Amino acid sequence: MCGIVAYLGQREATPILLEGIKRLEYRGYDSAGIAVIRGGKVLIRRSVGRISALEEKVGGELDGATIGMAHTRWATHGAPTEINAHPHCDASGKLALVHNGIIENYRVLRTFLENHGVRLESQTDTEVLAKLVGHFYDGCLEEAVRRALREVRGTFGIAVLHTDEPETIVAARRGSPLILGVGQGEYVVASDAAAIIQHTPQVIYLSDNEVVTVTRDGFRTTNLQAAPVTKELEEIEWTLEQLELGEHQHFMSKEIFEQPEALRTCLRGRVDLEEARVVLGGLDSVTRELVRCKRIILAGCGTAWHSCLVGKYLIEEMARIPCEVEYASEFRYRNPLIFDRTVVVAISQSGETADTLAALREAKDRGALALGIVNAVGSTIARETDAGVYLHVGPEIGVASTKAFIGQLTVLSLLAAFLGRRRHMSHPECLRYLKELSQIPQAIERTLELSSQTRRIAARFVEANNWLYLGRGLQYPIALEGALKLKEISYIHAEGLPAAEMKHGPIALINEDMPVVVIAVHDHLYDKVISNIEEVRSRGGRVIAVATEGDAHIGRLAEEVLYVPEVPEMLQPLVTVVPLQLLAYHAAVLRGCDVDKPRNLAKSVTVE
Ligand code: G6P
Repeated sequence: MCGIVAYLGQREATPILLEGIKRLEYRGYDSAGIAVIRGGKVLIRRSVGRISALEEKVGGELDGATIGMAHTRWATHGAPTEINAHPHCDASGKLALVHNGIIENYRVLRTFLENHGVRLESQTDTEVLAKLVGHFYDGCLEEAVRRALREVRGTFGIAVLHTDEPETIVAARRGSPLILGVGQGEYVVASDAAAIIQHTPQVIYLSDNEVVTVTRDGFRTTNLQAAPVTKELEEIEWTLEQLELGEHQHFMSKEIFEQPEALRTCLRGRVDLEEARVVLGGLDSVTRELVRCKRIILAGCGTAWHSCLVGKYLIEEMARIPCEVEYASEFRYRNPLIFDRTVVVAISQSGETADTLAALREAKDRGALALGIVNAVGSTIARETDAGVYLHVGPEIGVASTKAFIGQLTVLSLLAAFLGRRRHMSHPECLRYLKELSQIPQAIERTLELSSQTRRIAARFVEANNWLYLGRGLQYPIALEGALKLKEISYIHAEGLPAAEMKHGPIALINEDMPVVVIAVHDHLYDKVISNIEEVRSRGGRVIAVATEGDAHIGRLAEEVLYVPEVPEMLQPLVTVVPLQLLAYHAAVLRGCDVDKPRNLAKSVTVE
């Protein structure tokens, strides 16, 4: 959504700040800005476009400052122009503020300020907040921030500087993530650990409505009423290396190729083959309640929602518990029925998606047991759940989710077996399943060898403007995910469908220009899918099949076949999604798209 970094220490602030927002560029990348305090003045530079444009503009002009802050923006209020870019100033020009989130009552606050003679220059809600803090400033920045935030409805992660307190940063959050890195004589405030890890692994995670005031003598945390809050220092578990591209051209390809290892890490310590059981330490405190549940609701957005769809199949099949899937954004605004013994599981890579978080809170308010399946350790969703399971797949930087999807499917496979085993799965049954799951990384490794073939196929069809993706059963969510990947990063229109639904409308679209990707692996629906392929062929559609190795028949029906290793039906989505990720990746590269930072998107959507 937007990325914030602030620095106070002994070193040159500017390079640290610019490097920091580059690491957060995945959160937003339509404009950027920086402010430092030097010689008793606040110096600001802002620019439209990528951070490299800002860097060029700054040159050496801000050298010599050891305190400052920077921002990378994904526009919500006001177009991505220089005047709307952050930091924003107060009326005196002495205060600068960066913000991630949305001030919902900014119109009321704007009128309040205008009635007090304050003029606003931009169309942003953020400027209103900067001017409001300035309006309340009376010699204590921390108090002015608290005073202003008590008036605010909406979400914020902010950092604020003032020339009258040139060695102080005040930061606060509600709804948008904010972390304080605590180094040797220096501090870094950031929206994400990615901007902190190169300086220090020691962090504190701010909670909603908390304010942290950082000075050269240390830091203190308070709530909006000025009561002190004690925070624990925690350690970031990611390494710097995980944030680097290495030999890859894009983070997306790096993350696709990391999937076998991601899956191994996700499984580590969780599979007990001796007892044929799944060990999920994060669920210990709620296991009894969970196993006795009558119904499970899985909620998420985007790719995480596709994981939910796979999870439903797995949980219903293996644990025989009724399971529903909800778009988090819909669930939160309905009047959802939460009966006795309902469990709601929020699935989110970032752990910060506003709609998923709101759905989780709604579920908790209505008395459900609220669980999370999250990648980002210490994120808001992770902290607000009653219990949960981390993916442990490492940081995901590419905006299009890949390895987090594999992690989510893995955790859901584990959860289904965890529940199944405690309800009715036998020792041998579960043992077989867990052994098969442990073999999947090798199957993915073999599937990754399809990369050059997918590049060739992408080149052959890249001019087509509309694609269909078809799958049935467990492969239906994979068809959706394949289509989502293609449209997100290559801007080609693509639609995913349950294969049989095609004849109820979308078949009208099919002609000789339409690539139709069909997942036709050996499962109990194979023959049905073959009939669907025939329907596509007879309308001239051009079939690209994902099929099981050794299936000679399909070669006669499809123009292209991507053969994947045979794995048990329940685990096939972990393998079939891989060629679709590669296909989308190569199509995007061939079309010259910015793979890791597709237009109009952001990795972490912390606004509604
Ligand atoms: C954004 C991203 C998607 C992601 C979705 C949910 O829309 O572009 O790739 O799937 O948010 O994100 P989450 O962090 O909750 O998994």
